[in-house]
Amino acid sequence: MSTATSATTGADVQQQAQTGPGLQPGWGVTPERQRAVARVLGGLVPPTGRLAPAQLRAITSGLAARRDLWADLVVRDPDVRWYLPLHRSNSCDVWLLAWERGQDTDWHDHGGSSGSFAAAEGCLVEQYRGAGGRRIARRRLLAGEAVAFGPAHVHDVAHGGGGSATSIHAYSPPLMAMTYYTATDYGLIARETVAVDGPEGARGRGGAGTALAAASASAAGLTSDSLPADAPSIDELLAEARGGLARLRPEAALAVLTDGAVLVDIRPSEQRMAEGEVPGAIIIGRNVLEWRLDPRSEARIPALARPDARIIVMCSEGYASTLAAASLRRIGLRDATDLDGGFQAWAAAGLPTRPARPSG
Ligand SMILES: [Fe+2]
Repeated sequence: MSTATSATTGADVQQQAQTGPGLQPGWGVTPERQRAVARVLGGLVPPTGRLAPAQLRAITSGLAARRDLWADLVVRDPDVRWYLPLHRSNSCDVWLLAWERGQDTDWHDHGGSSGSFAAAEGCLVEQYRGAGGRRIARRRLLAGEAVAFGPAHVHDVAHGGGGSATSIHAYSPPLMAMTYYTATDYGLIARETVAVDGPEGARGRGGAGTALAAASASAAGLTSDSLPADAPSIDELLAEARGGLARLRPEAALAVLTDGAVLVDIRPSEQRMAEGEVPGAIIIGRNVLEWRLDPRSEARIPALARPDARIIVMCSEGYASTLAAASLRRIGLRDATDLDGGFQAWAAAGLPTRPARPSG
């Protein structure tokens, strides 16, 4: 047996497996198990060099069929996606992943690595960027099925329904960086590139690399007793804010807009790009809203930052806009209100919209 295909010691793997939130302590791959995996990978993994997608598929398919090598290692966690390295070398890394309902990776590429994954148990669904870049294709993998992809592949992998799923993933060269994408009407737009030391979009829903995952690890112990006695819930905060607002449904808002009121769109640019925008609306990010509209602020927009300004705040569905409008009223814009139902209600009412333009 060649130990060159197993560059990680059992202790290293154990430590690695315990570094990310959501990885349950005490789990790892013993040296014996690593050697058993290495025997299966024997002729499949050269010590160096780049493996072709078909070679990677042989690895994931071969290991998926060997339940005895991984079934007892899998940890099922409904809150945090779980993974474990089965093999790491200079040419290729291989991971064992578990999936529960609702978990997915988010859209990502593999930083120039080729890859393959095989459904070992349960079902996965892969959406991926098709030929030409605009079309989104979709395929379902049942247990025993595997796919492979080249270095330009961009995809979003999700639990495919039914019971728990398990999968085997291989990448060559080993994953070093991944770029995450946002799906818009204009195609996939690169959002962020991150260095990684883990498989398959640890930032997606349930991803072990997310702050949410870190928080969920301690959330189980949190009770309402931990909160200040007078702290309202978000539902109470919203109800309180709505108590002071004469909110406007879309048709009523249109009438007021034609009479001199101003529609202020506070949605993030990704949301505007995906949903569209209202012609004539003023775009002000939620994070700067009060500074732009407080008449006393040096960063104000003079034409709008007036106590008598008739501001109608719009978000996507009419929740964040309520809190924003209430905040504007507190700083003195006594006529500020918000669009009931947000952009989505506006569009559903058949009122004018247009595709959004990038703002930067
Ligand atoms: Fe991936």
